[in-house]
Amino acid sequence: MQFIESLDILRQLRQQWRQGNLRVAFVPTMGNLHDGHIELVKQAKARADKVVVSIFVNPMQFGANEDLDAYPRTLDADRARLEAEGVDALFFPAVSDIYPHGLGEQTFVEVPGISDLLCGASRPGHFRGVATIVCKLFNMVQPDVACFGEKDYQQLQVIRTMVADLSMPIEIVGIATKRQQDGLAMSSRNGYLSNEQRTTATTIYATMQTMRDAIVAGQQSLRDIEKTGQAQLIGAGLTPDYVTIANGRTLKPAQSDDVKLVILVAAYMGKTRLIDNMQITLHQA
Ligand code: PAF
Repeated sequence: MQFIESLDILRQLRQQWRQGNLRVAFVPTMGNLHDGHIELVKQAKARADKVVVSIFVNPMQFGANEDLDAYPRTLDADRARLEAEGVDALFFPAVSDIYPHGLGEQTFVEVPGISDLLCGASRPGHFRGVATIVCKLFNMVQPDVACFGEKDYQQLQVIRTMVADLSMPIEIVGIATKRQQDGLAMSSRNGYLSNEQRTTATTIYATMQTMRDAIVAGQQSLRDIEKTGQAQLIGAGLTPDYVTIANGRTLKPAQSDDVKLVILVAAYMGKTRLIDNMQITLHQA
């Protein structure tokens, strides 16, 4: 695996691969890799001749009240895992190379509407930061295909919208969420949970399953199902930020005639904010 810190070297390698007519897959990450990321890498490998992974903790997607400095940086362990997976190149740029003029004067990419809902409402500017860095990394790596986890469902929809709106010639693949045996979605943030909190956090998946069953049964209104879901989380000791049943594409509150739905949950377990989701396709009568 090539460890690349300079954009010039990355561009030379990309040029070489282009001359060889090789298909390139890309997995952008912020490091601190867990099995969910490794699944993205495996899926990327299955779709291309060469795989590039980036590790860049992107300051632009952190709010002023979010602790960028405390974000876990585990380069040595991450590098070893990617090497073992047979990744071809690990791109590890410096903040000063990505944002040479600082964040204040940086051109940005904003995907309107969808970026302001849900996590975007709780974390203003977050999706502007995500869209901007993903756009920049796409321009640097120039992948044919890029893999993102469905766990960050809203992020995936923001990126899909950006790619479509800006006519980027990149296939975006959403990869199903990797879960622990008890249903907890794998996330770097699980590392912040105590054993007791980790057990309580499994209520998120259980709540979504209850909500899904109620949606499919069709006996209650979607808004009532959301309220029951909220109550289930609160009863277990979590503090929900939102529990919503949304249209799977727009992420606006789902209506009774929507067919592709997604249950989206964000909840605090102590100080740790966890997110998860479950997609549902209803069969039309
Ligand atoms: O999902 C992440 O890890 C980040 O938001 C991403 C896509 C790498 C952009 O910084």
